Amino acid sequence: MAETFEEISAADFFYRNRDIAGFTNPARAIFSSIRELIENSLDAADLAGLPPDLYVRLSYESEELIESETTTEKKAEGEEEAEGFETNVYKLRVEDNGSGVPARHIPAAFGQVLFGSKYKLRQTRGTFGLGGTMALLYGQITTHKPAYVKSSTGMSRVYEYKLMVDIQKNRPLILDRKVLLNKEGWRGTTVEFCLEGDYIKAMTRILEYLKQTALVNPYANITFVDPKGRLYKFNRVTTKMPPPPKETKPHPYGVDVETIQRLMRVTPCRNMVDFMRYHFHRVGEITAVRFLESAGIGKTKDPRKLKHEEIVRLVRMMKNFDGFLPPDASCLSPLGVELLKAGILKELKPEFIAACQRQPSTYSGHPFIVETAIAYGGNVPKRGDFILYRFANRIPLLYDEASDVSWKIVKAINWRRYRVTPEMPIAILVHICSTKVPYKTVGKEFIADRPEVKKEILNGIREAARQLQHFLTKRQYVERETRRLTIFAKYLPKIVQFSTELAGKPKPPKVTRMLEKVFQRYGDSLIWQPVKNVREKAVIKAIVQNVKAAEVKVEPGYDLTDYIRVYVLVDIAKGDKVNYLNTEYIVDSVEDVLFKDQFIYHTAICKRVFK
Ligand SMILES: Nc1ncnc2c1ncn2[C@@H]1O[C@H](COP(=O)(O)OP(=O)(O)O)[C@@H](O)[C@H]1O
Ligand SMILES: [Mg+2]
Repeated sequence: MAETFEEISAADFFYRNRDIAGFTNPARAIFSSIRELIENSLDAADLAGLPPDLYVRLSYESEELIESETTTEKKAEGEEEAEGFETNVYKLRVEDNGSGVPARHIPAAFGQVLFGSKYKLRQTRGTFGLGGTMALLYGQITTHKPAYVKSSTGMSRVYEYKLMVDIQKNRPLILDRKVLLNKEGWRGTTVEFCLEGDYIKAMTRILEYLKQTALVNPYANITFVDPKGRLYKFNRVTTKMPPPPKETKPHPYGVDVETIQRLMRVTPCRNMVDFMRYHFHRVGEITAVRFLESAGIGKTKDPRKLKHEEIVRLVRMMKNFDGFLPPDASCLSPLGVELLKAGILKELKPEFIAACQRQPSTYSGHPFIVETAIAYGGNVPKRGDFILYRFANRIPLLYDEASDVSWKIVKAINWRRYRVTPEMPIAILVHICSTKVPYKTVGKEFIADRPEVKKEILNGIREAARQLQHFLTKRQYVERETRRLTIFAKYLPKIVQFSTELAGKPKPPKVTRMLEKVFQRYGDSLIWQPVKNVREKAVIKAIVQNVKAAEVKVEPGYDLTDYIRVYVLVDIAKGDKVNYLNTEYIVDSVEDVLFKDQFIYHTAICKRVFK
């Protein structure tokens, strides 16, 4: 019998191969759906230039458990979530205050695979025109229910669509459409649809995803209500957003024959010099002329009339010509050291953070910037190994960690050089942002080993590790010194007394004055703001120590790292404020240390102030 041949649509392809887009099983599907919609909303907020407010709600649509086709199909795969599914039908709703979608594009944006506004050279979270629609498609094939999309760009109307995907044609099916007056001037998008999933299995990952998303988007408010009605709130700590990403042109190093052919068809330019300047990134007149001369292509030639061999030669010469300026990274939108630290502080409350931003670099003509950080102590989870948080274009990557280039780098570093062991509570963060993140799959889970990228990540982690080493060494030293000092302070009055008696002097010298010298030399600087007179701020010297569990009663919402003990000579009192290493504390309890009724020093427990 003769073989039959047929063609399938893009939607049909992803319907048949949903694994490659991250919709492997009910647990993974629910994770990916939430993630894709959140990422669309965050992109839309970048576009609108306003700090995002996201509301995500997952609720039970039906309580009965389902033994689904996807369940049995995937059980054999032995993935971590693959056993014992408890599949339910859920309703997922995501609301945002982002840019909104122009009405005419709503159906295709949500009902057509490989349709989107992000195929440009611009740093975005979405890249393939796939994620959001894939989530809706998955919902449709598992529940046969339509999706609802409501959106407004802030103009006079709000549009509501009831949609399904025509999988065979890869076209949206509009089941209903409403146009409402936008009285409140609302702008944003709400997406709601039903899907089969396994929240119980996916829960840990989803919450982890939200936490890490809040970490790299510290200017976002994210609210999540889970099917049990539990509320998770991630509040912004700043309204400052990184400057939005800008669209850029292709760099000659990353161009291929197809790109040139497409440009030839649309170009308004009538000579090659203009063509080079107009369509390519960082090519000015002088560079264009020099390049064309070295490539042996006439400067006045009409680009629309390039012959095939000329195009091939042009592309080859573009890759080899060393006179082009490297891509300019100002179109990128990295988080920046300050926001990175704010996000880490908010979600991990560590004792110490080292963060750094590398100089921009490029791979295959794409600019990229790597940011790294190391957080130590506090709420950094202790797992007996380093924790690696991976981010790309301000989204966390959670799956396939071991395949990621950063993971390999972390494993290859000789940490003993930095006096660091895997048992320490250490989190390593790597963020890469680029107009094209070198993902290995459309599921956007891990980053390929590009040598240029590898180098930047390695150097970035090393830089942060050196800062951590410095901190650890200094802390060890300070701990040793304070221990010595407290013992010293304890015995100092006695020593003074004995030596006075030995010397036969009638009055012992003032111990406080002697201690003052010690504090000046070994103490840390604090800014002290007494309650009695708040305007009387002063920089004072103090010995600062971490507190142990036995010393304080930790209040709800606080942990041990939120408390410090200080030793001071000034008249500190309960309610005074002190600022230590840019962190604000309030004095909670004060004890005076006396010797023979003579005041020696105060010691106070101070509690961190959260604004
Ligand atoms: N919440 C939203 N706000 C604004 N636009 C959106 C939103 N969700 C989706 N879109 C639009 O729909 C398009 C398709 O989304 P999606 O299928 O997730 O692909 P991608 O994000 O990779 O482009 C996006 O490019 C964007 O233009
Ligand atoms: Mg998307």
